[in-house]
Amino acid sequence: MSNTALLAKLQASFIGCKTEYPTVDGKRGPRVYLDSAASTLMMAPAYEVGHEFLTHYASTHSELHYAARGAGHAFDWAHEQVLKFVDANPEQYCSFFAGSGATAGFNRMAASLSCARPERSIVLISEMEHHSNDLPHRHHNAQVVHVPCMGEFERYGGLDMDKLRAIFAEHGDKINYIAVTGASNVTGAITPLGEVAELAHAVGAYLIVDASQMIAHAPVSMDQADIDILVFSGHKIYAPGSPGAVIAKKDVLNAIKPAELGGGMVDDVYLEEYMPTATLPDREEAGTPNIVGGIMLGAVLDLLHRAGMDKVREKEIGQIDFAWNGLKSIEGVSVYGPEPADVPRTGTIAFNIKGFDHGLTAAALNDYHNIQVRNGCFCAHPYVRELLKRQLWEMDIDPDAPNAEADVERKRGMARASLGLYTTQSDLEKLIEAVRDLAGRRDEILSLYEPIGSNGYRHKHFRPAATDLFDPERLLGQYLASSA
Ligand SMILES: Cc1ncc(COP(=O)(O)O)c(C=O)c1O
Repeated sequence: MSNTALLAKLQASFIGCKTEYPTVDGKRGPRVYLDSAASTLMMAPAYEVGHEFLTHYASTHSELHYAARGAGHAFDWAHEQVLKFVDANPEQYCSFFAGSGATAGFNRMAASLSCARPERSIVLISEMEHHSNDLPHRHHNAQVVHVPCMGEFERYGGLDMDKLRAIFAEHGDKINYIAVTGASNVTGAITPLGEVAELAHAVGAYLIVDASQMIAHAPVSMDQADIDILVFSGHKIYAPGSPGAVIAKKDVLNAIKPAELGGGMVDDVYLEEYMPTATLPDREEAGTPNIVGGIMLGAVLDLLHRAGMDKVREKEIGQIDFAWNGLKSIEGVSVYGPEPADVPRTGTIAFNIKGFDHGLTAAALNDYHNIQVRNGCFCAHPYVRELLKRQLWEMDIDPDAPNAEADVERKRGMARASLGLYTTQSDLEKLIEAVRDLAGRRDEILSLYEPIGSNGYRHKHFRPAATDLFDPERLLGQYLASSA
């Protein structure tokens, strides 16, 4: 099958793309899912591989019965798919699975690297980072230097390479590592990883890349960019329920002590002492792994590798331009981050409609247009505050006020539309039309909603209960009734 045909087949394969929900007008229709930066939908053929594996299920770490042997083989295969997908030479790199997403990987690496090189007490982090690639480093290291981005106000974003150079020159071999995102989860701004690696390696620092927002959107080559450690979440690349993945140079892993201990990662244990294994990835995978999730993730990566991530990127670039220009052209709509022509970006677009709080935009897009977007600060509070600074000042709000009250929280955020492989041109047309529609009847919409919690909104008359949408108990009830 050609790459193009495979890509088309995969695009049509996602579970839940067309799930129907009710709207205010009393109708029911298929949703438009534009919340992929939070979590992507499941790719059906990968789910089927995981489902089939369950008919052979057994835990790994044994060769002596058929199922355990099969599980071990399939789990090894999943590790190989991870390496192949990020173009990491297996001689030099090792992949392992950790936790339920990228967060586990960052905590592990921060804990281990800070102990391994205590004489290098400084780590660098960009101001764009998701809290998951910021707080673990703050927690485990003596000093964190935050590297600013280029531009200002609404166009802030994209790592400022001149400032980064100056910071490397100032702190030199005191720097243990730099942790940067491959692409922002707020604006999609892409980091020039090869250049960052060169700067880091010139002073003997490691480069940790948060690929959570890049992995499903653009090709990644660890070999080419000489990345030391790369971390991503399987649920952000079409395998919800899969673990986080860490790919690291073997040299780095061999130089650190594993941060997690337990079964499967030791050669022997006595009451007085224990001997962690030198075998990778076992040394980094304490406990019974998420085998099904790992295999489903391996299946997604294999399929996308065959289809070609360059083709995925090509498709998305056109869609980004269309959505960015479409939203930007609507009167009263602000879009955030550098222009796509200035800094390359992935398919994540944060925006606000004048006079709408971010929570109201997300609620009204859902209730009136069946469009699912996320809102808030997206666990990137410092970055979002910087992007919103001018607009908040204009409202007499201090963006940096700690513990802001609910009224401020309601203003301090954005709506975010984020694309996936399943996103169609028609989805984006619907988004642009829906935003135009809301912007054009602001007073009516405002009168129909009331605030809830610190930044939410709910319609005064249209409130389907969560259990009307999906209810595990109802499903179990059906099962019990049918088997009675
Ligand atoms: C850029 C980025 N890094 C890290 C994370 C954390 O991922 P997880 O919650 O899967 O651990 C996210 C999640 O939204 C993200 O967008």
